Amino acid sequence: MPELAIALDFTEIEDAEKFLYDLEDKDVIIKVGYSLFVKYGNAITDFIKNRGFKLFLDLKLHDIPNTVYNGVKGAVYLEADYLTIHTFGGREMLEKAVEAKEGSNLRLLGVTVLTSLDNKYLEFLGINDIIENLTLKLANLAVETGIDGIVCSPQEVKYLKSNINKDFIAVTPGIRPNSENKDDQKRTMDVKTAISEGSDILVIGRPIIKAEDPNKVIKEIKQSLNR
Ligand code: C5P
Repeated sequence: MPELAIALDFTEIEDAEKFLYDLEDKDVIIKVGYSLFVKYGNAITDFIKNRGFKLFLDLKLHDIPNTVYNGVKGAVYLEADYLTIHTFGGREMLEKAVEAKEGSNLRLLGVTVLTSLDNKYLEFLGINDIIENLTLKLANLAVETGIDGIVCSPQEVKYLKSNINKDFIAVTPGIRPNSENKDDQKRTMDVKTAISEGSDILVIGRPIIKAEDPNKVIKEIKQSLNR
């Protein structure tokens, strides 16, 4: 069954903790990124794990293979369930990342081409390919190397799943339960459509954390997931 990951995009630990205290449904994944982790480190990740949530560390690792190896080991130490890594770092880096998580429950999620980049930038870099092809190339390499999942737009899931031979977890941000409010997301998709396209983990932030009644929004999303 598809799962819900809540993007815990607060900048102060007090706000994040209060939000988690009030959550009624423990069966959700909590995604922590730079905004909390750089400042608070394991204070926030321990809090999440101790309260029984699954931990999604969104740190998008990208460095030389040995450094990434040690970074992944750190995520294993923190008992993270998911960790993001840039597929652009190359085959050897991906292999070392996979080696580092062996024997643990950690699942690695590959990031391909950031949605903030465009074809013009690829051209500037001298890459003679369009974003769609490059995304598939990088996702294929990652999955082949043993990376467990790919972070992609819900619009890309079908294309990637039909062009990659091995199974992988499709993790999709840009989901809007209520399509009127898009925040700064340009291309959004509702929960049901995202699932029918093949999303396995739906990452949703502001529609939940900024809601008047987050528990109610979560309940509604979970109903769509269970159907
Ligand atoms: O608030 P919202 O639902 O837009 O949050 C989506 C989350 O997914 C944020 O934490 C954002 O950084 C992340 N994300 C994204 N688009 C990507 C990759 C990650 O929105 N391409």
